[in-house]
Amino acid sequence: MEYLVPYFFEWLNLLLRWLHLIVGIAWIGASFYFVWLDNSLIQPKDPKLSQAGVSGELWAVHGGGFYNPQKYLNTPPTLPENLHWFYWEAYSTWITGFLLFTVAYLFNPTVMLVDKQIFDMSGHLAIALALVYLVAGWIVYDIICRFFGVGDAADKKVAICLLFYVTLASIIACHLFAGRAAFLLTGAMLATIMAANVFFWVIPGQKTVIKTMRAGGSPDPVHGQRGKQRSVHNTFFTLPVLFAMLSNHYSMVYNAPNNWLVLILIMAAGAIIRFFFVARHKNKNNYLILVVGIIFLLIPIFLIAPPPPQKSLSDHIPPNFSEVSLVIQNRCVVCHNENVANKNIRLDSPQAIQSQMNLIYQQVVVTKQMPINNATGITDDERLILKRWFNTNNP
Ligand code: HEC
Repeated sequence: MEYLVPYFFEWLNLLLRWLHLIVGIAWIGASFYFVWLDNSLIQPKDPKLSQAGVSGELWAVHGGGFYNPQKYLNTPPTLPENLHWFYWEAYSTWITGFLLFTVAYLFNPTVMLVDKQIFDMSGHLAIALALVYLVAGWIVYDIICRFFGVGDAADKKVAICLLFYVTLASIIACHLFAGRAAFLLTGAMLATIMAANVFFWVIPGQKTVIKTMRAGGSPDPVHGQRGKQRSVHNTFFTLPVLFAMLSNHYSMVYNAPNNWLVLILIMAAGAIIRFFFVARHKNKNNYLILVVGIIFLLIPIFLIAPPPPQKSLSDHIPPNFSEVSLVIQNRCVVCHNENVANKNIRLDSPQAIQSQMNLIYQQVVVTKQMPINNATGITDDERLILKRWFNTNNP
């Protein structure tokens, strides 16, 4: 039975990823919808509605039905019996995300979190630092909001602080963790802030408002304002977070030289493009902002473009298969054998090596993703042996 453990582990990874995506779509979908709704409301024509405190309404048609949501400027005169709350979308996204991170990274810290060429540390230290990074990320953000989120030009001050803060956090992550983990962790840190905003500020604020109303008092509008401020931050975090989450499947970005700069530029592009769309919902189409966002996206694309391939004759000298086999034996087999077969790839026999030639070439020579985080210390000369082997078989 023991031999099935890695197999079931792979299923756990896949199913958690599936679930994480589903609930994440529900969260971001609801969030996008409410931002759009808020910005698309128009003043109600019916004076009765205005008198009742409705500040904006919207008519929409969807799926064969007509919908007419209305927003109350403060609180409705009476509390409805059935009040839908939105929080499970956020909580379940964070919970499934953290479990997936645990299965994919924390259970295998020396391989997934550590790159000895970047920062040599033990697996335990790597786990501790990853968790500290997530928690500290929220604490520092919350302090920034508490200090700068009040008074004149609060939004601008907070925005500038957050820009510096997220840049610094990315630099730290990219100098502590393997590139792939650094990108994911920076996304997870922002996503933790988003979920914590809902958990610690938005929902408790709403609960206080409702409690005050039930007790017959008039609630302090500060709760609504604070909730709104944090929601706005969440809106601008969404696209950066989604990029950081996806990026860990693309070694060209996380293994790039100065990968922190690539991460920051693309996350900034995401936030700027989101800014354009939020303004667009208010019928303010500022295409200059969109262009700036696209430029931010283009810079790293050109920055990390690979140099033209240098064709050298020696790349085509056929190696002995024993040389190839030796490289695989020394650098790959620990993680790709009968007992440990990552991604179901085994490289512990000449037949297996031969049959995986294309994948090996792709992973070791083209993308340099394998050995993962160069855990086994493969040299450039050894990569060249695999390149020559591929070239001679694919003239
Ligand atoms: C320290 C462990 C480790 C070492 C050493 C290692 N791998 Fe891997 N390999 C992994 C892991 C983990 C994955 C799954 C990566 C993922 O989920 O994206 C993987 C995946 C792969 C894949 C499948 C990639 C895909 O997505 O289709 C190939 C091919 C591969 N490795 C080849 C190699 C070769 C060739 C070497 C030696 C040069 C090597 N590996 C060394 C851990 C390792």
